[in-house]
Amino acid sequence: MSLSKEKKSILITGGAGFIGSNFVHHWCQNYSDDQVIVLDALTYAGNRQNLADLENRKQFKFIQGDICDRPLIEKILKEEQVTTVAHFAAESHVDRSILGPDAFVQTNVIGTFTLLESFRHYWNEQGNPENSRFLHVSTDEVYGSLEADDPAFSEVTPYAPNSPYSASKAGSDHLARAYFHTYNLPTIITNCSNNYGPYHFPEKLIPLMCINILLGKPLPVYGDGQNIRDWLYVGDHCSALETVINKGKAGETYNIGGNNEVKNIDLVTMLCELMDELASDLPVKPAKELITFVKDRPSHDRRYAIDATKIKTELGWTPKETVENGLRKTIEWYLNDQKWWQPLLSKDYQEYYQKVYG
Ligand SMILES: NC(=O)c1ccc[n+]([C@@H]2O[C@H](COP(=O)([O-])OP(=O)(O)OC[C@H]3O[C@@H](n4cnc5c(N)ncnc54)[C@H](O)[C@@H]3O)[C@@H](O)[C@H]2O)c1
Repeated sequence: MSLSKEKKSILITGGAGFIGSNFVHHWCQNYSDDQVIVLDALTYAGNRQNLADLENRKQFKFIQGDICDRPLIEKILKEEQVTTVAHFAAESHVDRSILGPDAFVQTNVIGTFTLLESFRHYWNEQGNPENSRFLHVSTDEVYGSLEADDPAFSEVTPYAPNSPYSASKAGSDHLARAYFHTYNLPTIITNCSNNYGPYHFPEKLIPLMCINILLGKPLPVYGDGQNIRDWLYVGDHCSALETVINKGKAGETYNIGGNNEVKNIDLVTMLCELMDELASDLPVKPAKELITFVKDRPSHDRRYAIDATKIKTELGWTPKETVENGLRKTIEWYLNDQKWWQPLLSKDYQEYYQKVYG
């Protein structure tokens, strides 16, 4: 049954972060009658500015709070009569999980458990409505690392997480799955490949490279640069999640990917060439002269690749953006919105940068 026509009250956790804020915009544009509630703790990665243009929308509410705060979650579910949870809130950066895994277990495992448990009680009190959904947004990193010739990750690939980040996401995926099998709670899990696009926090690979090129700073590439990621434009991820909420089957997992496997070094080179073309007055040109290989990240997964056949054949979703065009749009956004990222290069950011790259 398609749920798209029914009016929803949608709770979006982590809606001030990168993908969450893109999804909030996407949902508000496409479902103007729906009630949209964003719950976000505003950690270093959350930025209320990402949602500034929505603050005056009638059916929009921003709540600053922690997904581990059960009384708060229970209150929101009841007061807002939530029909749908889209759960993005997480600690999301592998490098930070290596430096300090505690927050990852707390938010990703305990936080997801708190949301599931609160939603279960609320859903029971409501008489188990069939049209409810709990969308748990997860990552392809739970599947571990592929060799060059291995087939891409499918929904039945065994979990083999290698970092505290992916292990904590794997734990939260298992909880979401168990809540469907044990309590019939209508959970759906999505496992997506690497995203890029607007509102991406500056310490992640693509914004970091763009900003360092603008500042004339070295472009740190881990190890030999041969690690492969399957890149997806964030707008495509949002349309996939919309499709899953509207047409996905409760209890199922859907893999989401862009069919865009690129080696890190090739991606960085592509970014350099696009920056040479699009940015004026670069301190170093050609920008690829800034590329510097640095000591590899511990347990660095070699290759990720997504087999997105299931979401294509069962739900009819395919990505629209090519890497070339998506990167061009992303770079133009970072060039035009320097006021967005400049304040984020704070003392905390500099300290983090120093710890990771020396
Ligand atoms: N970025 C990617 O490439 C990618 C790919 C696949 C899946 N994912 C998943 O998508 C989700 C969003 O990723 P992102 O890149 O937008 O992350 P992000 O780090 O940019 O944003 C996370 C958001 O969650 C909020 N948050 C953190 N802890 C919280 C807590 N305890 N309570 C409430 N809010 C909290 C932060 O303030 C922030 O706004 C994550 O679950 C991540 O695992 C990300």
